[in-house]
Amino acid sequence: MRDTFYITTPIYYVNDVPHIGHAYTTIACDAMARWKRMMGKRVYFLTGTDEHGEKIQKSALLKELTPRQLADQVVVNFQELTPALTISNTGFIRTTEPRHYTAVQDLFRKSLANGDIYLGQYEGWYCVPDEAYWTDLQVEDGKCPTCGRPVERRKEPSYFFKLSKYQDRLLEFYKENPRFIRPESRRNEVIAFVEGGLNDLSVSRTSLTWGIPVPDAPGHVIYVWFDALTNYMTGLGYPSKAPEFETWWPADLHMVGKDILRFHAVYWPAFLMSAGIDTPKSVFAHGWWTVEGQKMSKSLGNVVDPFDMVRKYGADAFRYFLLREVSFGLDGDFSEKELIKRANSELADKLGNLLNRALGMLSKYFDGVVPSPERGAETLATKPCENAPLCPEGSLHLSGESRKAVEAVGAAMEDVAFHKALAAIIELVTRANEYVQSSQPWVLAKDPSLRNQLGTVLYNTLETARIAALLMAPFTPTASQKMWDCLLPGGKPVEEARIDTDSKWGGLAAGASLPKACIVFPKIEV
Ligand code: ME8
Ligand code: MG
Repeated sequence: MRDTFYITTPIYYVNDVPHIGHAYTTIACDAMARWKRMMGKRVYFLTGTDEHGEKIQKSALLKELTPRQLADQVVVNFQELTPALTISNTGFIRTTEPRHYTAVQDLFRKSLANGDIYLGQYEGWYCVPDEAYWTDLQVEDGKCPTCGRPVERRKEPSYFFKLSKYQDRLLEFYKENPRFIRPESRRNEVIAFVEGGLNDLSVSRTSLTWGIPVPDAPGHVIYVWFDALTNYMTGLGYPSKAPEFETWWPADLHMVGKDILRFHAVYWPAFLMSAGIDTPKSVFAHGWWTVEGQKMSKSLGNVVDPFDMVRKYGADAFRYFLLREVSFGLDGDFSEKELIKRANSELADKLGNLLNRALGMLSKYFDGVVPSPERGAETLATKPCENAPLCPEGSLHLSGESRKAVEAVGAAMEDVAFHKALAAIIELVTRANEYVQSSQPWVLAKDPSLRNQLGTVLYNTLETARIAALLMAPFTPTASQKMWDCLLPGGKPVEEARIDTDSKWGGLAAGASLPKACIVFPKIEV
């Protein structure tokens, strides 16, 4: 097992400012990156911007800017978005950087040298917003089959990549690597597409200038998708054989939206096979957000600004909502009303409440000093039972529930099922709240002979809150750090915690002095 993990976001077009769709993919990658670090992996996490091509050139023209000026302006928004969303990326790449020109031209040369690129003439359709070629058969009513926007006719000299030659190798590759394309339903779509036959792919354009020049072919610039996909290697120093590249390549996970799966699952491995470079381990295509039931679009005026969401609700609540609301992989609908509902009912009323209730009682009954738990007393019931407040015969135990949650989160993260991971954490928190309710510490507190039991109930509750804080760290990093500080004053940052050791029951230190409150998820007022 490699101890490294290389994860990437798509590189986003700089024709316009980021919206919640871009934030979504980046947040998903961040949660995964943070999780892998907590699993003890060394992680490289790359994001960036896609700055060449016809779409950018056109947008720049409309704004009376050069493409470079437009890119320089818009990229700032993407660069500022990462800290605003508390993204822990290790690299940021712009395709206009000189290092990227070197990488793209090198990959192109390798394919050319291997006989996979030839000069020809492209004639067919082009979707500018998607930067995608389509044939007569694929175009429906003059519209792009993936985005539905009008396509344009193009006829120009062009270099072609022999994609058709890779059809069988790709199909074999998918068969041998069943987890290369996820989720499963998307994998089947890609296989059906490839089985339907592959045309050679135009990989250079002569009708525009805003791109990376084809080596030794004046007038040709490299097709923006050939350029863009290569970013995943440029970010690691390709083509230099520097240890960086050897250490991290091939990518473990390219996270993308379903709109660009074909480029990543068909073209990209074929380019790499042609150049004799290892193919990535997996591509995960997530679903699409609409906003209050409608497609997000400038003309509808319903584009949601992620900076706005962070200002209004904080990065943690925004991150939480996006990853909790929708089964990762499926489409979802964004609404602030639902965000507020989720954040209030789960983060504030369940998780925040658990922590603060326990801290409040600890302060009241134990002067804020963590008592040591009675041995075996974590077997107190979590469900109401006949002889409450004490139910030693109870079948649900918080330590066991915690272990179950840790395992469930681990399995969910392996499956890139963020919603399942979060559901498991909230389930644990719910159990702990029920436990407090049924053990009735306020009743125990009245009887001095039950002081040990009281201490145990509070210990168990706080310890469960600690484990929940740990498990939440990939998703709500700021709040988790705050909870962690409240429960383990003076300890290491939660980012440096390790799931295998720090999720073990008993990490909360008896004798520690804790604050009487720890406000992490203030209720959002409507
Ligand atoms: O395609 N819902 O860039 P792009 C969910 N530059 N995710 C969404 C979304 C939505 N409504 N809208 C956008 C490009 N996304 C190329 C990529 S990679 C080598 C080159 C996310 O700016 C989603 O990840 O159009 C989607 O794949 C990506 O943004 C497209 O961003
Ligand atoms: Mg797009």
